[in-house]
Amino acid sequence: MFLVNIGLSLIVAFIIIRKVLFPAPEVIEEDEGEQLPPLVFTSYTPRTLAKFNGTDDPRVLMGVKGKVYDVTAGKKFYGPGGPYENFAGRDASRGLAKTSFDPAMLTPIDQPLDTLADLENHELETLDKWEMTIEAKYIHCGVLENEKA
Ligand code: HEM
Repeated sequence: MFLVNIGLSLIVAFIIIRKVLFPAPEVIEEDEGEQLPPLVFTSYTPRTLAKFNGTDDPRVLMGVKGKVYDVTAGKKFYGPGGPYENFAGRDASRGLAKTSFDPAMLTPIDQPLDTLADLENHELETLDKWEMTIEAKYIHCGVLENEKA
């Protein structure tokens, strides 16, 4: 009986130590998301959007066709070190249309918004598909507008 008790105690101790040393990663991610205060729907300019890049602010926002989405839940894609981090805090429209994360796809934040006027039909269709994907997955939390003169 004594040996059985020792055995059970060792198993319980092993489980507790494992939980402390190797916590389930998804639990940590959920906690991180829950700690952020609610975001009020508002208007952004390229300059005010830029700080939401996951570094200067833990929240990650992304502009697509004049709409701003809260993509914080997709931080592994858009957050620092993610494959699409260049879109964080920026208007991603041209990059999505051309399926390219080339930095040249981004309009500098001190310049007027990209009108996308030169894009070809198939690029606009690609952009529309990305917009639908993003709209289905993330919260539309604002609009992206030019700075008032
Ligand atoms: C080597 C080329 C690429 C590979 C292997 C790749 C792979 C992937 C994979 C596997 C996903 C789905 C991840 C998931 O839902 O769990 C994804 C999503 C995505 N990819 Fe790519 N990709 C590539 C290139 C690109 C490029 C060039 C762009 C630029 C526009 C891009 C934009 C996106 C976006 C916006 C998502 C959606 C992320 C989200 O759910 O928020 N990908 N990619």
